[in-house]
Amino acid sequence: MRTSEPTLTRLDGICTFSRVTEEEDRVVRIGVVAVTLLLAMAGSARAQDAAAGEKDFVVCRACHQIGPGAKSAVGPVLNGVIGRKAGTYPGYTYSDANRDSGLVWTPEELDKYLASPQTVVPHTKMIFPGLKDEKKRKNVIAFLEQFGPDGEKKQ
Ligand code: HEC
Repeated sequence: MRTSEPTLTRLDGICTFSRVTEEEDRVVRIGVVAVTLLLAMAGSARAQDAAAGEKDFVVCRACHQIGPGAKSAVGPVLNGVIGRKAGTYPGYTYSDANRDSGLVWTPEELDKYLASPQTVVPHTKMIFPGLKDEKKRKNVIAFLEQFGPDGEKKQ
């Protein structure tokens, strides 16, 4: 008896251990599926925002071009603008206010700027009152994010 007791305990221990791993395994698998689904949903939400943003960008088109072959007009080309240092599109003559602002067009900075350009860059020559609708700003930024510096859409 004294010799079988530890064996039983050990077996019991092994069984409990394998039960836990099976459960853990299932939890991990459910987690992986959930994360995959969430990523897919986030991806399609982003695509929807960008599609809506293309329509909201109409007001910007009065002064800005984007896409392959875009040229500077009243305002600079906006290809690859996300992550770009303010006032650095080659060949465009910026105001001192924009060029010396020291800003980098992160999505957060752009959100503030598009809400009220004159507040973020006082004396900018972008004469635009701003997009007051937060959702529209988000959409326009998602639209801008699609374009690489060469004007091609990133995948
Ligand atoms: C009436 C013309 C006009 C409209 C409309 C306009 N912009 Fe501009 N934008 C400009 C000008 C001009 C500049 C250059 C500003 C300067 O040098 O001070 C500029 C600058 C910018 C910059 C900074 C670029 C850089 O390289 O530093 C961004 C970003 C921008 N505009 C985005 C937009 C978006 C997005 C819209 C639409 C929601 C928009 N603009 C609407 C004229 C316009």
